[in-house]
Amino acid sequence: MKKKPSLDKSGAQGVVTITEPSAPILLFDSGVGGLTVLAEMRKLLPQAPVVYVADTAALPYGEKTERQIATRVPALLGRLVERYRPRLVTIACNTASTIALAAAREALELPIVGTVPAIKPAAATTQTGVIGLLGTAATIRQAYVDNLEREFAADKLLLRHAAPALVQAAEAKLRGDPVDPAVFAAAAEGLRAQPGGEKIDVVVLACTHFPLLREELRAAFGPGVALIDGAAGIARRIAFLTQGQRFERDRPDTAVFTGENGTLERLLPALAGYGLERIEHL
Ligand code: DGL
Repeated sequence: MKKKPSLDKSGAQGVVTITEPSAPILLFDSGVGGLTVLAEMRKLLPQAPVVYVADTAALPYGEKTERQIATRVPALLGRLVERYRPRLVTIACNTASTIALAAAREALELPIVGTVPAIKPAAATTQTGVIGLLGTAATIRQAYVDNLEREFAADKLLLRHAAPALVQAAEAKLRGDPVDPAVFAAAAEGLRAQPGGEKIDVVVLACTHFPLLREELRAAFGPGVALIDGAAGIARRIAFLTQGQRFERDRPDTAVFTGENGTLERLLPALAGYGLERIEHL
């Protein structure tokens, strides 16, 4: 029988803190991208029970409309919260966060950590003043990104490029499927070919899938270009918000998939490498 988590009001604007030690941290992405956030979180909270959710039925998010993401993500998170009773949700996806973070927070009574492009640290790192940003098509057109640019990089040149092929490449890589190396050169070229692009010395990996391709992208951009992502910062935020809480696993960490296209079997070794031993379907 499923234990009912005990709840207590933290007092913070209707946010409910689940104090049950077995209550998991739920990480959510369209696919394998959120594993890059999970890896950083494990370093800080190795004992935390985890439910990792990949909304593979709707992958890729980056090719969807704002309306599709804005209606799907909060509703799906609502179902997941009902089912898994997490103590905290992390939207480990830039596309979903830049579009639906506010709506998800509005709809759910628990702490929700979002993932937004690491423009602030990139602005602090660049020497040339020219920053590249690689994301999905949906992410790079968001007002959320315009606002980050205005707030943190107003005196810099921020060049954006959509690289949906990298999402596919990361999904393929984790399944052990072949990846066409041309996609990395094309992503680098998509930034460099823009006016001022030759001066880029920092690239924001503004999609959680992309750090899975760090080595390939490093080779494509060459030395002298730093690749920055937000995963470590998100992990720190999760650790901060769960400070002082007890963690106790009462079952193996679980990966949940909303859709299956016949390739899940090939993903199992990679998932096990991230400590996800159990698979469920929603
Ligand atoms: N991992 C997601 C992100 O951070 C997007 C991948 C997709 O297009 O579904 O934006």
